[in-house]
Parts: sequence; structure tokens; C-alpha cells
Amino acid sequence: ALAHDLTGRRVVISAGGTREPLDPVRYLGNRSSGKQGWALARVAAARGAEVVLVAANVELPAPFGVRVVHVGTAEELRAAVHAEATDADVVVMSAAVADFRPASVAEAKMKKDSAAEPDSVPLVRNPDILAELVAKRSPGQLVVGFAAETGDADADVLTHARAKLARKGCDLLVVNDVSGDLVFGQADNAVVVLAADGESTEIPRGPKDGVAAGIWTVVASRLTPRYS
Ligand code: C5P
Repeated sequence: ALAHDLTGRRVVISAGGTREPLDPVRYLGNRSSGKQGWALARVAAARGAEVVLVAANVELPAPFGVRVVHVGTAEELRAAVHAEATDADVVVMSAAVADFRPASVAEAKMKKDSAAEPDSVPLVRNPDILAELVAKRSPGQLVVGFAAETGDADADVLTHARAKLARKGCDLLVVNDVSGDLVFGQADNAVVVLAADGESTEIPRGPKDGVAAGIWTVVASRLTPRYS
């Protein structure tokens, strides 16, 4: 029953992590490997979807049958995702998008022998691409966000995640507990998929392909039926 439940669906997935340049050779980046996004693309294609992967700084080979659009910065990722999302049934934002970027990019490499030590880097906020996708979502289109959360003294991971889901307005939020060192660059993952209507689905620890399969089963159950 699962094999081709995404046949004819157009799916856009962002993966990896953006890099925000400081000068021609340096950037602010993050540790996202792109592996979970790759697994999502691989599984969706195997289940019949037409898949576009918008990849921020991921060197992995393109999954079979998947079109990969390579980007570097949050602004490039934003442009590519919006362009591809127009006629998509599902948009999955699994990329780690930098919340801030350097306010200006030095034209030449910053020199360490310059007179003064730089004591700060001015930053400006990047647009929230997920929130933009939600705002321009077409009827029937599902928008899926990711959240890497840690618990703290005030609230546990799922409490934070529910607040984020409400704030972002997406249909589904895939929640990763990143308190330990069990996610970044690892082959295994475990997530909870929260839905805007309150439903939650726990996907137990396992290979990222298995986690991807669980995520697509939740997504597929929420797609508007189509008659062919
Ligand atoms: O708010 P937070 O960064 O934790 O939200 C994570 C979700 O928002 C992810 O789906 C990520 O791809 C998306 N995001 C975005 N644009 C940003 C920051 C995060 O689309 N500038």
C-alpha cells in the first residue's frame, strides 16, 4: 500500500545548511549534514513523487531520479525554494537556515594584521522562509517545517515545539531533540511529527531512511485525495 502513495505528487525539499559570507573566504555556517533531507528525497522518489532537492552546501551525490538545485546562502535558498514551490503539493523545509547573516560582506579578505582587532560582527536577520511559504501557500499544499529543540528549565522539547508550530503556522512540524549529540552528521535519527490539528506521531530511533518513510506516511495521509 505504501509503495506508490506519492505518485504524481510534486515535492520540494530543502536540505543542508546555509553559509553566510563574511568575506571571500570566510562564512558563518552550521553543522547540518543534509543527510535527513537526502533521505526524505530518496524515499519520496521511491514512492513515486517528482522530487526537487534544494541543497545548501551538501556534497552528497544526487539521489536517483531527483533534481538537485545547489545553493549557498539563505537568500539563494529562499529564491530557489519559492521558485520551485509554486506548483508543489508538499514543501519540506529541512534545511538549517542561518537566522542571521553578516550585515556586509567584505570585498577583500579581512587581514589579521590590520591595526585593530574586530570586536564584533554586525548581523542582520534573514527572512523566515518557512513563514513566507505558509503565507503564500496554495490550496491543498502542505508546508512542513523542522525544529531542532532542546528542553530547558522552563519547558520540555515538545512544549517548545508546539509553540513553534503555532508561531510558524505550518501544517506539520518534524521535531528533533538535539539535547544530546545524536543528530548532526549521524546516520540515525528519531523525531516526533506534530500536526497543526494536535495529532502527533512518534517515529522511533532508526536509520534516516526509516525516519523519512515515517514522515512521508504522515504527510501522505494528509494530502488531498486525487482522482485519476
Ligand atoms: O525557528 P527555527 O529556525 O527553529 O525554525 C526551523 C524551521 O524554520 C526549519 O524548517 C527551517 O528550515 C525554517 N527556517 C526558515 N528560514 C529561516 C530560519 C528557519 O525557513 N530564516
